[in-house]
Parts: sequence; structure tokens; C-alpha cells
Amino acid sequence: MPPSTAFVCQSCGAVSAKWSGRCEACGEWNTVAEETVAAPLGGKPAAGGKARPRHGKGLDFVDLEGDGDVVDRRLPTGIAEFDRVLGGGLVPGSAILVGGDPGIGKSTLLTQAAALAARAGATAAYVSGEEAVDQIRGRAKRLGLSDAPLKLAAETSLSHILEGLKKEKPDLAVIDSIQTLWSDAIGAAPGSVTQVRACAQELVRFAKKRDTAVILVGHVTKDGQIAGPRVVEHMVDAVLYFEGERSNQFRILRGVKNRFGPTDEIGVFEMQDGGLAEVANPSALFLGAREANASGSVVFAGMEGTRPVLVEIQALVAPSALGTPRRAVVGWDSGRLAMVLAVLEARCGLSFAGRDVYLNVAGGLKIAEPAADLAVAAALVSAAFDAALPVDLVAFGEASLSGEVRPVGRADARLKEAAKLGFKSAYAPAAAAEASPGVDVKGVATLGDLVARIEAAAKQ
Ligand code: TYD
Ligand code: MG
Repeated sequence: MPPSTAFVCQSCGAVSAKWSGRCEACGEWNTVAEETVAAPLGGKPAAGGKARPRHGKGLDFVDLEGDGDVVDRRLPTGIAEFDRVLGGGLVPGSAILVGGDPGIGKSTLLTQAAALAARAGATAAYVSGEEAVDQIRGRAKRLGLSDAPLKLAAETSLSHILEGLKKEKPDLAVIDSIQTLWSDAIGAAPGSVTQVRACAQELVRFAKKRDTAVILVGHVTKDGQIAGPRVVEHMVDAVLYFEGERSNQFRILRGVKNRFGPTDEIGVFEMQDGGLAEVANPSALFLGAREANASGSVVFAGMEGTRPVLVEIQALVAPSALGTPRRAVVGWDSGRLAMVLAVLEARCGLSFAGRDVYLNVAGGLKIAEPAADLAVAAALVSAAFDAALPVDLVAFGEASLSGEVRPVGRADARLKEAAKLGFKSAYAPAAAAEASPGVDVKGVATLGDLVARIEAAAKQ
């Protein structure tokens, strides 16, 4: 049958018979492109992979009780931060997608992980579709890992890669990157969503069948989606994002999906000349160089997964020259900022009208916890009154629309981390006072209460 063409959204992979400016499935603009797809074998157009003919003897059931849980047979990568984000190492036969901006350090991280796993006795292979073998060697040398028995290959043809992997039978295979691969069974261009999906599908199938942990590297587009294959995210067992600013040496590995562990863990790294170094104490890092007596600066005692992380929140409130004052946020949700501002205005008598408000989470961390409400409010109020808060104070607590400060989980872990780093007091929900190892908890019942305290301190 001759290959046919279809219109495929390069963002979500939806297939349609005609072109449109906006994908009807995901709503993205200008993402629909014409692609050659494999000739349909069944009724449905085969946008990725061919439908497999059915033959053989049908389905054989197996007992629930098998020869051990695969999840328990974890393969450590030798990078503790990486292993923690995975939920305790690589699960044999699992497929993992590691996404991130080009140049952020994905190849560096995975060269290190694969080489360290190989050094520890696992068989590991690294296939690059972007670099020549000598380039990978050069990087391994710079990383001080030249001696690791890591297998290297530079290849973009999926069939060659699968052949090689079948021969090598590695415990771990890194494919860098999924966007460079092409399958000769698919007419579409490399990097197109049809190719990416078909290649990922084959590699995931290989992982399951041969018990190899397969790590796929994927580049991310500017809007934060892994280029093209949002579809790949659904196929793999775990999706990790490698984040950071290229101008800053800190990198965060964040789990966004994990079938074998929690998704809220982060791994923190520092990009150095000799590769990525693990940061065991991220709080010290995010607090970095804090100024004493700066108004608008408050340390939030947050949680990232199971780990407490202290991070500085900075606010600036300045007279606005614009008709509609500016609200700018880096590292937090702008909707949440609007809510905290509205509660401060409606319940506490503060006015931000005619004033620009800037909020920044220092160190490039992105915070998603509502527990940051109280710290954000404290930073805003401190900035509004130009009153610096004590440098040895942390804050956490969720605010309701009525201005009430609600208890949040893991108060004990937050306060313990604060005490460890030398913090002496905390603005927190009153309930947290029970669990205060070495930190003086100043129970805050409402945001009005918070404003009164900061205002009183400003007048002293
Ligand atoms: P790379 O891993 O190639 O990024 P990606 O695969 O995500 O595109 O890393 C890119 C940057 O990292 C590059 O600009 C150089 C820098 N780098 C270091 O700073 N130290 C190192 O040891 C290595 C190998 C890279
Ligand atoms: Mg790379």
C-alpha cells in the first residue's frame, strides 16, 4: 500500500484529515503539519507504529506470585540525587524521559549516570544521535570517567540502534536524543511527531521485553513542552525535567511523572568544570548571599517532596507610572499572587493600587506549594512598609480567601530544617508551635495579624 499523508499536530500528536491553523485536540496554534504516515493496516490511520498482525496461540495468563518484584530490583545510577528523583534508582525494564532546554546539561548528567552505573558493574550503553563518539569520549574525559566500561555509539537509525542493543543486552541504555532518531518504516521526517512517537514506542517495547532500563533524552520547546512528543510522556514510566537558567550554575532535576515512585522529589545539582556536582544541602544554596536589613525579603520554609528546602522570597512594591500597575512573578503562580494581594487589600486595609508589584523566588526555584502564601504575604507587607524582617526568621502557612492562616503539612520538618540552618523564629500557623525544635514560632492567625505585627515593628 502506498504511504499516505495526514495532518499531525507537532505538539500533541493528534491526527486529522485536513490542515487547520489551530489544533482541535490541544488548542495550540500553528502546530499542525502534513506528514507521511505509515499506510493504515486496520480501520484507523496508523499515525505511529504499525498495527501488529495477530497470530500465535493467544493470551497466556501468569500467576500474580512471580519471581520477585521488579520494582525492588533497582539499579542505582551512582548519582544519589538522580536515584532519589527516580524513587530509589532505575527500575529494570522501565522507560524514562529526561527533558530539558538544549544546553542545560542533559547529556552531561546522563553521561555521568551511565558511566557511574557502568563503573559500579552494570552494563550500560550510551547512544548519541547528536554527537560523534569522540565528542562523548572527550566529555567523559572531562568528567573524569574515561575508565568506565561504558559502551558508546553514534547512531540515528532506530533499526541499527535496536540491533545493537539486542546484541549488547545492556542493563541501562541512554538514547540522546529521541528527536534525532528515525525509523525507516515511517516516511515522516526525523524530529516530526510521527517519527518521535514511533521510535519511542519501539524503544519502550524493547525496554519491557529485554528488561533494559531505557532513558530517552528529549529537548524541550520554549513553552515548556518536550518538543513534539507530548505523546512520549504517556508512553514512558517516568518523566523527569532538568531545569535551570543557563546563566546560573544550579540545576534541578524534577520528577513530573513516575510509575515507580513519588513525583514531587527534586534533585539539586551544580554545573561545574568537571560536570554536575550533587548539592546535598539545597537550603544553604538557595539562601546563598542574603542581605541583612533588606525589606521585602522573607525565607520560606518549603517542602520539595520529602525534603525541606528553605528559599528566599523577594518582593518589591514601587510607585507605578502605568495606568494599570504591573504584577510580575518569577518562580511562583501569578494567580496565587493576585489572590494574596486581593486578600491583603480586602481584609487587611492595604492598598496596592497605583503600585507595581514584583515577586521573585531566589535561586531559580519554582514553588508550587500553597504553603508559601504566608511567606509571600510577609514579603509583600515588608516591602510595602519598607520594613525589614529579622534575617533569622522563616515563614510558612496557607492563606484562605477570608485571610485566615491555615495549617500546612510537615511543620516539624520545615522547622527542623530552619533550626539546622540557624533560624531562630518563624511566622507560621499557630498549630505549628507544638512542633518547634529550637525555633520560636510566632503563631499567625490571620493575614491581618501579620500586617499588624510588621507594621508595629516598622514603627519601632
Ligand atoms: P550538555 O550536557 O551538552 O547539554 P544538553 O545535552 O542538555 O544540550 O551541556 C551543555 C553545557 O554544559 C555546555 O555549555 C558546557 C557545560 N558543561 C560544563 O559546564 N561542564 C562540564 O563538565 C560539561 C561536560 C559541560
Ligand atoms: Mg545534549
